[in-house]
Amino acid sequence: AAVVEHTFVVHEMNQTHLCNTTKIYVVNGQLPGPTIDVTDGDTVVVHVKNHLPHGLTIHWHGVRQIMSCWSDGAGFVTECPIPPGGEHTYRFNVTGQVGTLWWHAHVTCLRATVAGALVIRPKGNKYPFPTPAKDVPIIIGEWWELDLVELDRRMHDGNFDDNPLSATINGKLGDLSNCSGVPEESFVLDVARGETYLLRIINTALFSEYYFKVAGHTLTVVGADGNYLTPYKTDMVTVAPGEAIDVLMVADAKPAHYHMVALANQPPEPDPQIPGFVSRGLVRYAGVPNNNNGMPVPTPLMPNQHNTMPSFYFHNNLTGLAHPDRHRVPMHVDERLFVTLGLGSICRNGSKTSCKRRRSNETIVVATMNNVSFHHPTKASLLESYYDGKPNKTLYTEDFPDNPPHPYNYTDRALIPPGPLEEALEPTFKSTKLRRFKYNASIEIVFQSTALLQSDSNPMHLHGYDFFVLAQGIGNFNPRTDPKKFNYHNPQLRNTVQVPRTGWAAVRFIADNPGVWYLHCHFEFHIIMGMATAFIVENGPTPETSLPPPPPEFKRCGANGLTRP
Ligand code: C2O
Repeated sequence: AAVVEHTFVVHEMNQTHLCNTTKIYVVNGQLPGPTIDVTDGDTVVVHVKNHLPHGLTIHWHGVRQIMSCWSDGAGFVTECPIPPGGEHTYRFNVTGQVGTLWWHAHVTCLRATVAGALVIRPKGNKYPFPTPAKDVPIIIGEWWELDLVELDRRMHDGNFDDNPLSATINGKLGDLSNCSGVPEESFVLDVARGETYLLRIINTALFSEYYFKVAGHTLTVVGADGNYLTPYKTDMVTVAPGEAIDVLMVADAKPAHYHMVALANQPPEPDPQIPGFVSRGLVRYAGVPNNNNGMPVPTPLMPNQHNTMPSFYFHNNLTGLAHPDRHRVPMHVDERLFVTLGLGSICRNGSKTSCKRRRSNETIVVATMNNVSFHHPTKASLLESYYDGKPNKTLYTEDFPDNPPHPYNYTDRALIPPGPLEEALEPTFKSTKLRRFKYNASIEIVFQSTALLQSDSNPMHLHGYDFFVLAQGIGNFNPRTDPKKFNYHNPQLRNTVQVPRTGWAAVRFIADNPGVWYLHCHFEFHIIMGMATAFIVENGPTPETSLPPPPPEFKRCGANGLTRP
């Protein structure tokens, strides 16, 4: 196995789209950022140099980080941010994961542009499907005219009215014209007739799930989140923020040009007026002239952007491709968590007692898991504090609540209080409540979306683990009947599960990787609103099953200079 080394210089850069110039944040001048391309079993070393005027961390999204939690890169969860002018080396091994993962900044909203693909190839290039002629990352993102640091500040202030201007495919807007009528550049995929292409579709967007299609072509889904799937033929792929979906596309259509389209799936309520974000790219067969022989370029027929059901069906139809070593579904459960995803309100002044919550200028809407809203630490890292054995109660507590097991209609629309949400939601508090698991415990989590979040699905992402997705459903999870639908035979192994709008999803995993692991919705505004927690996984009985001390190049919080992002 090889050691693959990269240097990432993260800096500001000006970019002009639609006649306006915006300051963006990029790695080595590239948007999307550089692809890390490795083989199963390799070691990845990335030297990150922070040339930004604020703190930075990079997270290796989906990398299991076995016994290397120190390199997970979750700001203030596993490390303090790299200060301006500072640098930090991440070192980790990728073994047993094959397919597409990615990396992104894990402080503020920087991940909208500080992101790129992490491709893990099978040993000897042996795929369980025909070897593609070529593989291409298709990174679906958004173009924000607003400075991302400013966007983050506004969201922390409780202002969630900002929208991106366009979707992007590999950084290209591709469907809009600027003020003088000049079209924005499109992403172009050049193909040769008869060849097979592996498209590595990653959603790096802050705000939206996307529908993706290529006119005139069928797609075969073969993997997701660095694990193989049972080949699934479809004309449309759905990709939620945090997900990475591998599809094969055979260039078997009549040689011509075809549009590919990424369309944001916008919730039906409460904001049906949200504009549709779309980016259009081009699939261009070799030998076809630029004018496409005078023919119009076919565009795929997209679903209604406010219809969320195609997303549910897509995710529900996927199954895993059994892998002898990795595909042992835990059949018993040691700890069962039922986690509701909802909203609440807190006092703007931070007070726990005195705010008059009926006045909207005094309260902020927050997102919750089991009715608590996660307070993200800003001064020290949870992992260091835990590892040092001085759990600091002002930093975190280990009492992430269980949901009371009373029967409750979570998805009843009557739960939505009338009037402005700021005034009507139940009050809650910001706190850093974690959950601790014994080494090797078998964990089941059922995520339940509630009517309070009627408009949103929730791509829940767990650091440091893949979990089996046993079932998904619309409506309320029924603990008596729904477990009968669990797929123990060939469930998908994922690091992100799209919990359907007004529905639920059940996952299981074995807590065999010690450390402190962030769990959160991958919608950026939901993270900022507090839809998050972290799991502490204890060491096992032997040195091999225990988290080693921080590597020599790991900079402790004080040493990092502790910059507020
Ligand atoms: Cu890509 Cu904590 O996430």
